[in-house]
Amino acid sequence: MAIRPVLKMGDPRLLQVAEPVTQFDTPELDALVADMFDTMAALDGAGLAAPQIGVGLRVVIFGVAANPRYPQVEPVPTTVLINPSLEFPDNDREDGWEGCLSVPGLRGLVPRYRRLNYSGFDQRGAPLARSVVGFHARVVQHECDHLDGILYPMRIRDLRLFGYEDTLFASSSDAPAA
Ligand code: NI
Repeated sequence: MAIRPVLKMGDPRLLQVAEPVTQFDTPELDALVADMFDTMAALDGAGLAAPQIGVGLRVVIFGVAANPRYPQVEPVPTTVLINPSLEFPDNDREDGWEGCLSVPGLRGLVPRYRRLNYSGFDQRGAPLARSVVGFHARVVQHECDHLDGILYPMRIRDLRLFGYEDTLFASSSDAPAA
């Protein structure tokens, strides 16, 4: 498969609402998912949404292995999530630092719901449903925002907490970008 160029903030395609997938288990969908994994791995990302490679479909992938470089980051299982639906069981939110492969080099402090129930399908059309908290919930909210044309800087409440990663975190690393 192939590493695809990732669109950067400013490209109008990142602001569009993506369309649902209507056919599962097709060579085209397999190729899209494979390209997304290749691209995410090449850029060392935590997640990627199809619109970030210019494909306007409701497909996201994510996954974070335990990494001694980021001991504060909880592992997230490698997942393909298509036509996702999100439900927030309560209003509890927390702030966390986010980055995005479409906003390279920058980080911002973003409020997200702490608890999330999400469901959808994998590329074969098999249903998937999970209840998650914390970093896993954050990654899914970030990726699914891409499907509605929302980039994390739009959700930052205090733009003083938005800046270049190498300057914000001069002495420490933070969560990988998605
Ligand atoms: Ni992103």
